[in-house]
Amino acid sequence: MNIKTLKDLEEIKGKTVLLRVDYNVPFDQNEEIADDTRIRYTLDTIKELQGKSAKIVIISHLGRPKGEIVEKLRLNKVAARLKELTGAPVKKIDSSIGTEVKRKIEKLEEKEILVLENIRFHKEEKEGDPTFSETLASYGDIFVLDAFGACHRDHCSISGIAKHLPSYAGLLLEKEIKALAPLIESDPKRPLTMIFGGAKIDTKIGVIKNFLNKADYFLMGGALSNTFLAAAGYNVAESLYEEDKVETAREIMMECEKNKEHFVIPHDVVVASEISNEAKSLDIPVEDVIGDMKILDVGKWTAEKFNNIIGDSGTVIWNGPLGLTEFTPFQNGTKLVAEALAESNAVSIIGGGDTIEAIKSLGIDETKFSHISTGGGACIEFLSGKSLPGIEAVTAK
Ligand code: 3PG
Repeated sequence: MNIKTLKDLEEIKGKTVLLRVDYNVPFDQNEEIADDTRIRYTLDTIKELQGKSAKIVIISHLGRPKGEIVEKLRLNKVAARLKELTGAPVKKIDSSIGTEVKRKIEKLEEKEILVLENIRFHKEEKEGDPTFSETLASYGDIFVLDAFGACHRDHCSISGIAKHLPSYAGLLLEKEIKALAPLIESDPKRPLTMIFGGAKIDTKIGVIKNFLNKADYFLMGGALSNTFLAAAGYNVAESLYEEDKVETAREIMMECEKNKEHFVIPHDVVVASEISNEAKSLDIPVEDVIGDMKILDVGKWTAEKFNNIIGDSGTVIWNGPLGLTEFTPFQNGTKLVAEALAESNAVSIIGGGDTIEAIKSLGIDETKFSHISTGGGACIEFLSGKSLPGIEAVTAK
């Protein structure tokens, strides 16, 4: 992959660099940052740009505010954490476009950092509005993209700005591509096992389809597996699932059967009727789910089955926790599987903010995995062989 990197940057002293990062970090129940990996992983790029005496304007999204201002999705806490981590002054402005932004940027000194407000407060960002892209681009001289986690989005601050400015991959994006590209450029060590979980169920079903005929095993957990359980005819009671994707889920399972790929849905599940740290939970066979029960984790037996498959796998790609790990009663499935994967000899790729947070909060040693990707959806879309708008944007033409 012929991407333009910071090594290709010439003299940037005094120039304004628009740095797009993915600071879409998880927050805990007290609205504090639960895991700052996505911030820490961009520090090398920031240091490199400061070392070259650039002025740095940081652009990021946080959550999905749908084009409106959502107070709790402001980037204030993120900017404060960045300040702590860099030990340098970090300015933050409450908007991301307009005369005030322009004025603040013009006043920036070399090496200074200015964080703009959540770019998704503007609906134009997700719509890829060309005028919005052009305006953003007019605030800088150079564009550096380090938001691997959002590279699958064709948004203004990912692919739009790059149409107007010389554009380069930051060190994090470069590192992600270097780690992941070999898995698509040559056949991965087999068997190839994909573990899918998490709560972001909307786009994942489509991504799973891209792996049909490529993976040997699919292991399903998290809210995502509830749609497959429903497709297999089980009662999921009050569990979160996607009714309108049940048919697609059924087709995927049938296709896997035809291809002799193994598609494993939970056999036993942890259920509770309330979601809290004090919730009374039960590990029961999936056919016993009834009434007001919510499926909130995979059961022990299922985790063991997953672990046997992991033990025999050559490569394991894992995206999304297997249970609602923010709450103690629903952490066990993810913990058991993460421990087994950490100890296995397989090439192990862990993707996504929620998965990283879960692994860290469960005390699993991150260094035991081959690669921790800051991308969730982006990581699996990339590994499925799709071309990502963000990567296209920094590819030498
Ligand atoms: C992520 O967390 O996967 C990225 O930040 C992208 O977020 P999105 O799915 O809301 O575009």
